[in-house]
Amino acid sequence: MPCKKTKKQKSESIKPKLQLILFIMNIFITGASQGIGRELVKKLAKENHRIIALSRNEEKLESLVRDCKALNKVSKLETIPFDLRDLKSNTHFIVQRTEETFSNLDILINNAGFLTTEPFSQISDEILSKTMEINFFAPFILIQQLLPLLRKSKNAHIVNIGSMGGINGSSKFSGLSAYSSSKGALAILSECLAEELEEDQISCNYLALGAVQTEMLSNAFPGYEAPLNPKEMAEFIADFALNGNRYFNGKILPVSVSTP
Ligand SMILES: NC(=O)c1ccc[n+]([C@@H]2O[C@H](COP(=O)([O-])OP(=O)(O)OC[C@H]3O[C@@H](n4cnc5c(N)ncnc54)[C@H](OP(=O)(O)O)[C@@H]3O)[C@@H](O)[C@H]2O)c1
Repeated sequence: MPCKKTKKQKSESIKPKLQLILFIMNIFITGASQGIGRELVKKLAKENHRIIALSRNEEKLESLVRDCKALNKVSKLETIPFDLRDLKSNTHFIVQRTEETFSNLDILINNAGFLTTEPFSQISDEILSKTMEINFFAPFILIQQLLPLLRKSKNAHIVNIGSMGGINGSSKFSGLSAYSSSKGALAILSECLAEELEEDQISCNYLALGAVQTEMLSNAFPGYEAPLNPKEMAEFIADFALNGNRYFNGKILPVSVSTP
């Protein structure tokens, strides 16, 4: 004879379905063509999240779509080949593309970055502008532009990818003055936005990454062996982006087992 389910058993049996529905997020990631960003997209696409991935290199984005399909046949990944330095002049393009794909935006991960190792005395206007444009102005403008869509989400999370060099009191390295200062500006922006966007239920955190074995690191510090590979770091960032806003807001969090 079939026995009647208790109240607890009933609620447990509907839980997995409910979680599955709630767990699918609309996510925008910059700097997706290689390194940490590419691994992040793969990890989140495998978990069925809907993703927009932006960076300049179209071929790499196309191969990313193929990688994601191989990991998850029903992965939902849109790509935007775009130079973040054009955000100011091309104001509505990103918003338009995002609105065509998402009705709201749950997570924005500002991951794209540019690193110069030129000594302070030799940094040109061009390199300084490029550093600030990609590492600071782009996240600033992108957050502004996507704010209406973030506001439509119940608990949106902005995750700004920074660096150990971009926070107070950490070890500093010669040649990283422009890079670290730009990441420092992004750290303070993250604290400011946590306050200013709180009423909209939007959290904003900054992850100060330590060394990860990517092209950026190998070019800057040839021969240095990082303790983490991009996939390992992406696993942490993905989990933080999905869940971290339950525990943190306006925080500058070191994610490093070593410095740099
Ligand atoms: N690796 C480390 O040790 C380390 C440590 C601390 C912090 N971080 C931070 O982690 C993030 C990811 O770094 P990574 O090591 O993975 O670097 P990476 O391998 O050099 O990747 C950087 C990504 O940013 C994109 N990008 C660069 N300029 C762009 C632009 N103008 N417009 C659009 N996209 C642009 C690149 O794509 P396209 O070239 O296709 O545009 C690429 O996908 C960066 O913010 C970096 O500062 C890294």
